[in-house]
Amino acid sequence: MKIEPLMLTHDRGTFRCGIPSFDKYIRAQAGRDAAKSLAAIYVAELPGGKIAGYYALSCATVLLPDLLGSGGQRIVSRYPALTAARLTRLAVDKRHRGQGYAGALLRDVVERLRASPLKPMALIAEIQNEGARFFLEHAGFQSFVDQPNRAFRALH
Ligand SMILES: CC(C)(COP(=O)(O)OP(=O)(O)OC[C@H]1O[C@@H](n2cnc3c(N)ncnc32)[C@H](O)[C@@H]1OP(=O)(O)O)[C@@H](O)C(=O)NCCC(=O)NCCS
Repeated sequence: MKIEPLMLTHDRGTFRCGIPSFDKYIRAQAGRDAAKSLAAIYVAELPGGKIAGYYALSCATVLLPDLLGSGGQRIVSRYPALTAARLTRLAVDKRHRGQGYAGALLRDVVERLRASPLKPMALIAEIQNEGARFFLEHAGFQSFVDQPNRAFRALH
């Protein structure tokens, strides 16, 4: 499986993950966001240029007090705000579910962030539905204190 930055040659029109806003994003918005450096978009490419799945990442900061008490104390910092990356979207086409694509995309996120010069301290994600909650918890994410629909995973 090849995971690479979204390019004009990728066929985005047939992507269907079951969440219309996620489908519309990769079809109509992701290329523009990447071109303007508003987001980093990576895709799991299939033969012929189709897309099995994708993720979108952007920069973020997170307040340490938001994390404390739910495992955030493992992130040690003298600053109240930590550098973070936000996983704004991660989705797999319905026809390719359960084949490890989401796990591979998430591993790719973590590897790229750990290798980047800025090395963000945490990866954060909004929990959009119960499937996402199970997937993220299974992947080691924990909910923010008092914000059950936001989750984080330490990167260090
Ligand atoms: C959530 C989603 C990305 C999972 O895609 P997938 O290709 O089926 O996931 P994978 O086959 O790569 O599974 C990865 C791991 O997560 C687990 N997993 C996947 N979906 C799960 C769920 N709903 N509940 C519990 N565990 C789940 C798998 O068992 C697997 O575990 P393993 O590595 O120990 O074997 C997919 O269902 C999707 O695109 N949903 C719509 C978009 C969405 O909700 N995105 C939010 C994600 S932050």
